[in-house]
Parts: sequence; C-alpha cells; structure tokens
Amino acid sequence: MRRLLILGGTAEARALAAALAADPGLEVTSSLAGRTAEPRRPAGRTRTGGFGGAAGLDAWLRAERIDVLVDATHPFAQEISRSAAEAAASRGIPLLALRRPGWTAGPGDRWSWAATVAEAATRLPALGTRPLLTIGRQELAAFAAVDLPVVARTVESPAPPLPPRCRLLLSRGPFTLDGERALLREHRIDVLVTKDSGGPATAPKLTAARESALPVLIVRRPAPPPGVPAVATPAAAIAWLRAHG
Ligand SMILES: NC(=O)c1ccc[n+]([C@@H]2O[C@H](COP(=O)([O-])OP(=O)(O)OC[C@H]3O[C@@H](n4cnc5c(N)ncnc54)[C@H](OP(=O)(O)O)[C@@H]3O)[C@@H](O)[C@H]2O)c1
Repeated sequence: MRRLLILGGTAEARALAAALAADPGLEVTSSLAGRTAEPRRPAGRTRTGGFGGAAGLDAWLRAERIDVLVDATHPFAQEISRSAAEAAASRGIPLLALRRPGWTAGPGDRWSWAATVAEAATRLPALGTRPLLTIGRQELAAFAAVDLPVVARTVESPAPPLPPRCRLLLSRGPFTLDGERALLREHRIDVLVTKDSGGPATAPKLTAARESALPVLIVRRPAPPPGVPAVATPAAAIAWLRAHG
C-alpha cells in the first residue's frame, strides 16, 4: 500500500482526499496548517500544524514512511511549498503540485496587477477611495498606512496593525454573485484589491466589479518552487498518481 501525504487547506485538496478515500492501494493523510479554528475537514486521516520547516517535514515523511507527496496548498502559501520541494528532493520521493489556475481578465474588466501585497497597498490610493480588500488576514498589515474607509473581508480576525479606518467582515466563501453585488453597493466600494487565488468560490466578486466598472488591483502569485510538476485539477492529480505508481 502506498502512503500519500496531501498538504491541504484548499477545496482542491479536500476534493482530492475525498476522491482517493476509497482507493484500496493508497493510505492518504491530509495535513492542515491549523490556522483556522474550525477548518473544513478533509475525508480520511488528517494531521494538523506546522512540521518545523523543510527539515521537520523531511523527518515527518521518513517517520510516516510517506511514498508520495501532493502539495495542494493555496497558490500564495509559499513557505510550505518550498519545504515540500526541499523535503521531497532530500527524501527522493515524487512530488506533485496541485494548483488551480489563476484568473484571466475578460471584456469589460478593469484589472491591474501588483507584484506584492505591499505594492498593492502603495498603489491603492491612486485607484479609489472606498476599497474592498480580499487579500486574506495575514498581510493586512501592509495596508496599515492607508487612511481610507477600508472594508476588509477575512475568514478570521486579523492581528493588528490594521488600516486606521478598517471595517472587518468575517466570512468564508463560497460567495454568490448577488451577495457580492449587494456588498459592493452597501459599502459604496469603488475599488477591489485581491490576490490571484483563482477558483470559482471567490470569483463572483470579479464579476460584480466588472458589472459596476470598478477597478480591480490583483496581486500576482509568487513563483512556485522550480522543477515541481504541477496540475490544475484533482482529476489530473489522480492521473499523475496512477502514472507514478
Ligand atoms: N496564503 C493564502 O492566501 C491562503 C489562503 C487560503 C488558504 N491558505 C491555506 O492556509 C495554510 C497556511 O497558509 P500560509 O499562507 O500561512 O502558508 P505558508 O506561509 O506557506 O506557511 C507558513 C507555515 O505554516 C505551515 N503550514 C502551511 N501549510 C501547511 C499545511 N498544509 N500543513 C502543515 N503545515 C502547514 C508551515 O509551517 P512549518 O514550516 O512549521 O512546517 C509553513 O512554513 C495553507 O495550508 C494554505 O493552503 C492560504
């Protein structure tokens, strides 16, 4: 029986764990960072919390006799992806990245791109006066000097510092188009700042912004670790696992 570790925390990771749960040839463990108090739990065995960097992950993979690793973490989760690449290389086990595609602009979109969250914070005041920030809670501090009536939507409460006039909306997707339209209207949002997370769960805000001709400032994804094969869907990950069996 092969032993698979899925580095999770995303909808794709959960879909993969669910699809493989009944596979008699695989023993699957999903790993969660432990960042959210009530995470959506994947099917099957799970473990929670950091490993202690690449060396810690290496030791864990050895102790658990893991044969194959799938990094299905969020496209902006850079540290764990780096650890996965290092630990898989040092253990000599195959590693696949499962990463949903980023978003692409369509007709009517008024998108511009920032290389980092810090750059987005610097450029924001030139684009609007009533921003909606959907960049997660971990990097909200980059906007601490933005003195605008900011609406920040996060899953859980961010730690300070926050923008001086920040209204927090705690909620977790998926979001609906009607809901996103209402949100933009209620707070009179005139610019949206987000990350290129991709996926359908949080895409309706982009449609709502397009409908209202709002500018959208999107933070580009960090470069993935070099040399790691990547697929875009759980089905493609399963095909890869079968091919690398
Ligand atoms: N960044 C985002 O925008 C975002 C959005 C939605 C969900 N998430 C999910 O939230 C988790 C944390 O994201 P992050 O941005 O903090 O990542 P990160 O910066 O790459 O990770 C920071 C540290 O958290 C631990 N960690 C992260 N993911 C882990 C996992 N799946 N299992 C065990 N430990 C993990 C690792 O600690 P050690 O070094 O001690 O091993 C890692 O070095 C990820 O699983 C990611 O998929 C992130």
